[in-house]
Amino acid sequence: MAASSSSSWVVAAAALLLVVLVAPAAAQKETKLRVFWHDVVSGPNATVAQVAEAPTSNASATGFGTVMVIDDPLTDGPSLTASRLVGRAQGMYVAAGKDTLSLLMAMNFVFVGGEYNGSSVAVFGPNPAERAVREMPVVGGTGVFRFARGYCQAKTRWVNATTGDAPPVEYTIHLRHD
Ligand SMILES: *[C@@H]1O[C@H](CO)[C@@H](O)[C@H](O)[C@H]1NC(C)=O
Ligand SMILES: *[C@@H]1O[C@H](CO)[C@@H](O)[C@H](O)[C@H]1NC(C)=O
Ligand SMILES: *[C@@H]1O[C@H](CO)[C@@H](O)[C@H](O)[C@H]1NC(C)=O
Ligand SMILES: *[C@@H]1O[C@H](CO)[C@@H](O)[C@H](O)[C@H]1NC(C)=O
Repeated sequence: MAASSSSSWVVAAAALLLVVLVAPAAAQKETKLRVFWHDVVSGPNATVAQVAEAPTSNASATGFGTVMVIDDPLTDGPSLTASRLVGRAQGMYVAAGKDTLSLLMAMNFVFVGGEYNGSSVAVFGPNPAERAVREMPVVGGTGVFRFARGYCQAKTRWVNATTGDAPPVEYTIHLRHD
């Protein structure tokens, strides 16, 4: 009798430990989303401002040392004018490659419309801009993306230049979050 009761305590304690260990992982959600990032470099509605450069930046083919601050529109489709605005990429990028074109991206995707309105994710990582696909870490988030971790892949979409839009960059974002 006593032995059986103590062994059922062991089973109960083991089950509780298992629940405690497993529950946080099981609660994580996975979200995959796609936005189009528009770096509007000229005109009255430019969303990029160069704020600094190194004395040698102009002489360097990679612009090494240049710092740009951005507030770029994020849309749900490739057109800046016809697609829906869902957020803004606010932050900066730095030409951090001395001999190759490699940007350091440090930006928040701040959602202002659509189902993630009010939430944000933080992207921080390297962008070797001449490569077809550039992968960057997503290091955190707010709102529905609290405790987010993940990665995004950026691909430049060379659209028909007759529209006058700068080519959008398609960001596919894979997240695990609470
Ligand atoms: C600039 O933005 C304003 C306000 O959204 C808009 O009315 C105007 O057409 C835009 N101009 C250009 C050149 O895109
Ligand atoms: C680099 O070039 C830009 C544009 O031609 C010019 O405005 C800027 O003064 C130059 N910077 C340096 C450090 O020479
Ligand atoms: C996004 O959320 C803000 C704050 O709740 C709200 O004022 C705004 O209308 C929303 N925008 C869209 C496009 O749903
Ligand atoms: C771009 O669009 C115009 C007008 O629709 C078309 O005539 C032209 O062939 C297109 N160019 C390319 C490279 O697709």
